[in-house]
Amino acid sequence: MSNRYGRFDDAAREYVVTRPDTPLPWLNYLGQDELFGLCTNTGGGYTFWRDARLRRLTRYRYNDVPLDSVGRYLYVNDGGTVWNPGWKPTKTELDRYECRHGLGYTRIVGAKDGVEVELLFFVPPGENAEIWKTTVRNEGDAVKDLRLFSYVEFCLYEAFNDATNYQRSYASGEVEVEGSAIYHVSEYRERRNHYTLFACTREVSGFDTSRDVFAGVHSGLHEAAVPLAGRAQRSIAHGWNPIGSHQLDLRLEPGAEETFAFVLAYVEQDAAEKFESPSVANKEQGRRLLARYSEPGAVDSALQALQARWTDLLSTFQVDCPEPNATRMLNTWNQYQCMATFNLSRSASLYETGIGRGMGFRDSNQDVLGFVHLIPDRARQRILDLAATQLSDGTCFHQYQPLTKKGNADIGGGFYDDHLWLIVSTCAYVKETGDASILQEPIGYADLPGSSETLLHHLETSVAMTLGNRGGHGLPLIGHADWNDCLNLNSFTTDPDESFQTAGDIEGSKAESVMIAGLFLYAVRELAALYAHLGRIADEARLFQAYDELLAAVEAEAWDGEWYLRAFDAAGEPVGTHSADEGRIFVESQSWCALGGAGAGNGRARQALESVQTHLASTDGVALHRPPFTRYRPELGEITSYPPGYKENGSIFCHTNPWVTLSWCLLGEGDRALESHLAICPATKDDRIDTYRNEPYVYAQTIAGPDAATPGEAKNSWLTGTAAWALVALTQGILGVKPDYRGLRIDPCIPPAWDSFRVTRRFRGVVYEITVRNPHHVSCGVQSLTVDGSKLTGDLVPDVPGKTTVEVEVVLGGNRPARRRGRRAQPARAR
Ligand code: GLC
Ligand code: GLC
Repeated sequence: MSNRYGRFDDAAREYVVTRPDTPLPWLNYLGQDELFGLCTNTGGGYTFWRDARLRRLTRYRYNDVPLDSVGRYLYVNDGGTVWNPGWKPTKTELDRYECRHGLGYTRIVGAKDGVEVELLFFVPPGENAEIWKTTVRNEGDAVKDLRLFSYVEFCLYEAFNDATNYQRSYASGEVEVEGSAIYHVSEYRERRNHYTLFACTREVSGFDTSRDVFAGVHSGLHEAAVPLAGRAQRSIAHGWNPIGSHQLDLRLEPGAEETFAFVLAYVEQDAAEKFESPSVANKEQGRRLLARYSEPGAVDSALQALQARWTDLLSTFQVDCPEPNATRMLNTWNQYQCMATFNLSRSASLYETGIGRGMGFRDSNQDVLGFVHLIPDRARQRILDLAATQLSDGTCFHQYQPLTKKGNADIGGGFYDDHLWLIVSTCAYVKETGDASILQEPIGYADLPGSSETLLHHLETSVAMTLGNRGGHGLPLIGHADWNDCLNLNSFTTDPDESFQTAGDIEGSKAESVMIAGLFLYAVRELAALYAHLGRIADEARLFQAYDELLAAVEAEAWDGEWYLRAFDAAGEPVGTHSADEGRIFVESQSWCALGGAGAGNGRARQALESVQTHLASTDGVALHRPPFTRYRPELGEITSYPPGYKENGSIFCHTNPWVTLSWCLLGEGDRALESHLAICPATKDDRIDTYRNEPYVYAQTIAGPDAATPGEAKNSWLTGTAAWALVALTQGILGVKPDYRGLRIDPCIPPAWDSFRVTRRFRGVVYEITVRNPHHVSCGVQSLTVDGSKLTGDLVPDVPGKTTVEVEVVLGGNRPARRRGRRAQPARAR
């Protein structure tokens, strides 16, 4: 798989960018614990500690031209010619360029006039430091005298303030310099007990800390004065814009090379020991860190530790199947992207500024589905953190700040789907781990300080919230919005100065959501199965009563003839109906009703999905709705604010596509399922990469829909719920390896043409080596199941503790048990 900008190197688990002028910056993330860096294929991006807004270490310049300005830069001055190995910012033409985005690291190699510079950026596991391993080689046959200049621009920690409040920040900046170590100590004298260190393990011959001196007040970084002149000025910043830059002088014989490292670190200091002398920062920790990475071999062993960590993590799920793009995405990139959504939710990417949203409630709960198998303990904690931002009426803070774990009051709550996702994530966690003790963990409600209830109490509060807030058709009220943030049926906003996300009054409105109804059916059935597993039959029965009631309402009120309606607006008018001129059919309610078990006995689920195929599907995926809205309709809200075919107004909103894939799996349509899975898969976009533009190795949030002005153009890569759901759709839907309360269920739904596939799955500490054969060329239905040589009936591989590996052989060609809705027959239960 290659296009004119790059290719996959599957064996190395790297994406190789072969030219720097990609259609958009192509991003990678550094860091896996607390310190994170955004790093593009030209070294652009920034670094922060835990919270991209409150602890921003280096600066980014938003909406700048050229795109992706400011980053980790190294300038080479070779006899007056100044260039950067990552091409930017000078954009001096290189003789050779390559960027390899790997798992937690990015390696950029640039060469010019016989000099090759290799920069390897990574964050060692458990360390609050970003390492830039640097190797300079003289590939020519003459001696080279080189001057190198490093560059980072410090951010004054609170990134929003840093970007907006110059009257303060231009007076606050402070640095200290000690040898090769530059300390960014702005506000350290007051309440900040932390500083940033930018140091080099090699001897330096100069430094700068003032941007005005380094670049020049009227110059861009591409024409920065110091590297052009070839001489650092030893500037000390007093306010304005502090930076870190080192000068290194290298003399290299022909064939010689030198390796050293830059260290960019975040250091927290005990408040009692902040200063080593009056007003002088205590640098002991910084010195120790630098000394540690100056030891020979220290950088390389840190890199090995990083690689070992990822290899181990991803070995949790590996596949070998006939579809190469499914294999490469699953084995590496899709799981990797899921880890990024774990770490960053929707906070920091090239499209999320890191100063806006923190952790989203519904987003993070869905993200759990993509990483719970990789990091179950951290998933557990995430679920508990999320639950703590639920209110006692069942609604939730829509977002919270990762550093404080407190709900964001400015956006508030009132999104009436939020609480249901908590049930989905919790059930997924218990199925993965078997650890039902999470249900008894004490967590308070955010509006009742000091309160303490169990997680299970929160889940029941969620059920009660939906049941207690229904409209005239017996369907759940939508509140401010459901999963579709922009379907604002209670806003009626006509004021351009008002945010759609907070506008409007939901009090008394009766607008209802069919999607929430479907999600409710799904979530309640999950929870009922959990009760059944726990032997709480009365609770199971109680939930199925609620289930039956909601299902009856859906079937009686929400069927439009060929598909399910999307909603009823505040006036009680149907949304997503065949008689509408625009927004006739929406995807969310089709898949969620199907996944919730609606339309199962009466053929409606199949018909709804066929309607999706007819009206919404294209080679780039399934559009949210069609036709898109061409004029603004206050009664529908933000969804009609976007130009036709973009974002929530009828783009291919990738997040929803795996729901369609899963629905096809439920219906037993393996070809359709794989087709749906691959349509949004970035690795399949090589032949239209100049249209698609985003990274070919991670999912994007949207692809412009068929009715857009630029169909096929992706936007907003990396931090999207698409990652988790695409992984679930492939691993649990198509490959059919489903964690269940009592073991692993194997229930594939594959293209009939497939002969076989293999999966390695670590589950509750045991490695399952699973081979699925398809001699009769069917999509689904298990004919035989053999576990360590013994034949079992059904499709459940029971959880057997004490083993280390289990061989599972599955032959397809049997009847797939009908997953009837209702008591004692729902899919999640062991039979
Ligand atoms: C964004 C939001 C998500 C929402 C979706 C659809 O991805 O993060 O919460 O569900 O848009 O509006
Ligand atoms: C806008 C976007 C939507 C996102 C929301 C979050 O409404 O269209 O995708 O979820 O903002 O702030």
